[in-house]
Amino acid sequence: LAPKTLRGKKLLITAGPTFEPIDPVRGITNHSSGKMGFAIARAAAEAGAEVTLVAGPVHLPTPRGVQRIDVQSAQQMHDAVLPLAAHQHAFIATAAVADWRPAQAHEHKLKKAEGGATAPTIAMAENPDILAAVAGLPRPPYCVGFAAESEKLAEHADAKRRRKGIPLIVANLGPATFGRDDNALLLIDAQGRRELPEAGGRADKLTLARELIKELSQRLR
Ligand code: C5P
Repeated sequence: LAPKTLRGKKLLITAGPTFEPIDPVRGITNHSSGKMGFAIARAAAEAGAEVTLVAGPVHLPTPRGVQRIDVQSAQQMHDAVLPLAAHQHAFIATAAVADWRPAQAHEHKLKKAEGGATAPTIAMAENPDILAAVAGLPRPPYCVGFAAESEKLAEHADAKRRRKGIPLIVANLGPATFGRDDNALLLIDAQGRRELPEAGGRADKLTLARELIKELSQRLR
């Protein structure tokens, strides 16, 4: 049984991708299985936290004891998160939020015109940055961001941490982790860096989630 290091603490977690509709049958999305965020929600609940999980479209069962809110778009995720955020001890943003959405979702399916007409152009609008919005609250919860970078991992992740005004960012180490059950993480804060698993290599996402929750428990004390 996990030690109840988060008893009495409220945690809000985002997970999965967002889906930005183009028309009723099409949309723009990001690669994300939601596995890391769901594993963190499970580990937090095991540690005794009161967990709310705001999930984009994923195919995963709700971890035991976790309150789940399903959303599709970034705007919906933002609108679900913001009213809850001020009442939390910590906010962990693992979701792969689409940076842009089609400026307007068409009410009806876009049709190919007869005779090979030109392809449509989709005007895009910027989505709200959910993590930055939560970090900017007057009394923000302890905010943890995630970063998937394709190069200069630590440098870009730390720049992101400072730009968003959050104390801790977790970078995905190594090759794409999408859909995999294992991962390796690099925790970066103002003091320095720490790798998980500590011994190097990779570990399954639930093991990593439990380690991260242990680390977070210490920071919330
Ligand atoms: O800016 P970027 O997407 O690279 O930052 C990643 C971190 O910010 C993740 O923790 C992600 O969940 C969060 N994020 C967010 N809202 C956005 C974009 C990213 O909460 N619109």
